Amino acid sequence: MITFDEKTKILKLDTPESSYVMGIADNNYLGHVYYGKKLNDTNLSYLMRTEENPFVPSENLREKVTFFDSFPMEYPCGGLGDYRESALLVSSGGQEGAELSYVSHEIFSGKKELKGLPATWGDNCDTVEITLEDNVLGLKAILSYTAFSDTDAIARSVKLVNEGSEPLYLKKVLSACVDMDDKDFEFLSLFGSWARERHMETVPVGHAGTYIESLRGESGHQEHPFFALTTKGCSQTNGEVYGFHFVYSGNFVGKVQKNQFGSVRAVMGIHPEHFTWKLEPGEEFAAPEVILVYSGEGLGKMTRTYHDLYRNHLIRSPWKDKKRPVLINNWEATYFEFDDEKLLSIAKEASKAGIEMLVMDDGWFGHRNSDNSSLGDWQVNENKLKGGLENLVEHVRELGMEFGIWFEPEMISPDSELYCKHPEWALQFKGRAPGLAREQLVLDFSRPEVLEYVYESVAAILRSAHISYVKWDMNRPLADAGSSYLPEDRQGEIYHRHVLGVYELQERLVREFPNLLLENCSGGGARFDPGMLYYSPQIWCSDDTDAVERLMIQEGTQLIYPLSVIGAHVSDCPNHATGRVTPFETRGIVAMAGTFGYELDITKIPQEDREQIPGQIETFKKYYPLVNAGDYYRLASYRENHIYDCYQVVSKDKKQALVTFVQVMAEPNIHSRKIYLQGLSEDTVYEVEGKRYTGNVLMHGGLLIPGLWGDYQAKLIEVLAV
Ligand code: DGJ
Repeated sequence: MITFDEKTKILKLDTPESSYVMGIADNNYLGHVYYGKKLNDTNLSYLMRTEENPFVPSENLREKVTFFDSFPMEYPCGGLGDYRESALLVSSGGQEGAELSYVSHEIFSGKKELKGLPATWGDNCDTVEITLEDNVLGLKAILSYTAFSDTDAIARSVKLVNEGSEPLYLKKVLSACVDMDDKDFEFLSLFGSWARERHMETVPVGHAGTYIESLRGESGHQEHPFFALTTKGCSQTNGEVYGFHFVYSGNFVGKVQKNQFGSVRAVMGIHPEHFTWKLEPGEEFAAPEVILVYSGEGLGKMTRTYHDLYRNHLIRSPWKDKKRPVLINNWEATYFEFDDEKLLSIAKEASKAGIEMLVMDDGWFGHRNSDNSSLGDWQVNENKLKGGLENLVEHVRELGMEFGIWFEPEMISPDSELYCKHPEWALQFKGRAPGLAREQLVLDFSRPEVLEYVYESVAAILRSAHISYVKWDMNRPLADAGSSYLPEDRQGEIYHRHVLGVYELQERLVREFPNLLLENCSGGGARFDPGMLYYSPQIWCSDDTDAVERLMIQEGTQLIYPLSVIGAHVSDCPNHATGRVTPFETRGIVAMAGTFGYELDITKIPQEDREQIPGQIETFKKYYPLVNAGDYYRLASYRENHIYDCYQVVSKDKKQALVTFVQVMAEPNIHSRKIYLQGLSEDTVYEVEGKRYTGNVLMHGGLLIPGLWGDYQAKLIEVLAV
């Protein structure tokens, strides 16, 4: 619900348990008033502290700069005296500075689309659009806030319109800024690397700013476009949490800093480095959405809010709530060494075991036999697939399986026919040879003809055979971001235009092939972000499928993403990323906290492993509806205790739960683990491994899990209401 109190000039957004409040202050400055636990009154303008600020601009212009230096501006601009982190930097005629004041607002039910950008959607929400203006620049800023009524989330975005007569240069357009009271916050973020994505880390917030960022042209393995401010000692069940998550797949920054007067400014948006957007008179620029989530009950509640929001208000695919086919991917089975016979031998054995889809990964096109050629030449290599693609697909389908295929549409290999014809299609700086990564270059997505070529190449393959699934990969970050197509004063737009190009292509793809199951991927999980979820209902989480490393990767990923979107496979051992050997059963149990599939040569794995596959698939299918739609609770963390991991999914009606327990290290001569379940109904009686307990006892007395024999052991424990 959103209300405006005419008397107090207070705009108040309410979700079921949180409030976000803004106020119109002196000189029509829009101030931030409050964000946190739900408030029941609008008499709140005193929280902007204007009374205690002697420098009221309308009375005392002499100290306007001093006023800017302390006022909690809702959307602060740089250049005129607010020396904290700004949200907007505009340059006009070479001079940098803007001053925005409130003009009007409009409250309506529902939510508008963000043209060309991913965004949350749905009916259970209200939106307020607040128009601010700088009448010297002729600049309008429309701040949009959506309050959801079924979940404690607020979506924010910004649109800028040049209503003047001169071009404006946008040098920084962040999507959110919140001036908060200092609650001695800690800063929780997700860091990583290839094969080690999204590990959780917490540091204190201080006067030296703390930030996360990407300058790689994608959200990246290294940092994630998410942070949470948590009060000290915050746990899964206690403490206040403010989550900030950016619905965007390119360069980002998120920054938090205490200031001289004892408040904290938190911002998030497109990274201003390598960014300048020229806004001609009459043009608009839309900045992507940030999702704010407040929890007064610890991290667990924040997690479940993001899960519900993304399942109900972000993912659009018709596959969203459907069970996805259990797939087998040939990447770790063959890498580039395969032909149609090899793929069919895998498919035959896989279909016998109950696997439902074969995915042909990298290496089926051009003359690609390693990662050094052919990106851009999206024609089937008939030396490998002898009867052509359609023939292979039909043979796979005769086995009762679906067929999926891999692409890396944003790239070009110097050793390709495409590069011979169009070397200028690769991003590069004038007079400088562009740097290779994985021996490839990035296509210039600011060129309309490149987007057209890429789309038609992918679509032609999809039109040529019965293909049910596409894995869209991206194996190197952007660099040398120069375009021979764009004029000099638009070179600063390339990183953002690349992301917009990816969105445009994926939008076209899901429109032309509405039933296609699209999985995004980027060298594992380097573009695992809410932006991509708008187009694909699942994303490959990591190239690391080792069951132990995955516990930490999946813990960080599950912190904000529902399990139904997390690409997870069982692979062979020794694991290709870590060399670790874990039991096949454990690998299966860990992969069941995701989309579940296989990535191994099923014709070569030990017989006893192969024999487990039908049972694993049956278990996965049995619990799929629960895991896909249930409430997730983190019960213990191997990252913290270095011994075992434990999480639980509870059905929305609280009648069924599944506990996953993974003992990474065996410990002799010690008590059984006591696990306190969560989210059950207190008075309901549940059956667990043949014994009966009330929900109250399982949650407060705890469940005893005896030690398992050996390292890397795992078990699933079903909890069923009787
Ligand atoms: C990186 C992906 O994460 C892998 O699964 C695989 O598709 C390779 N790229 C192929 O080049």
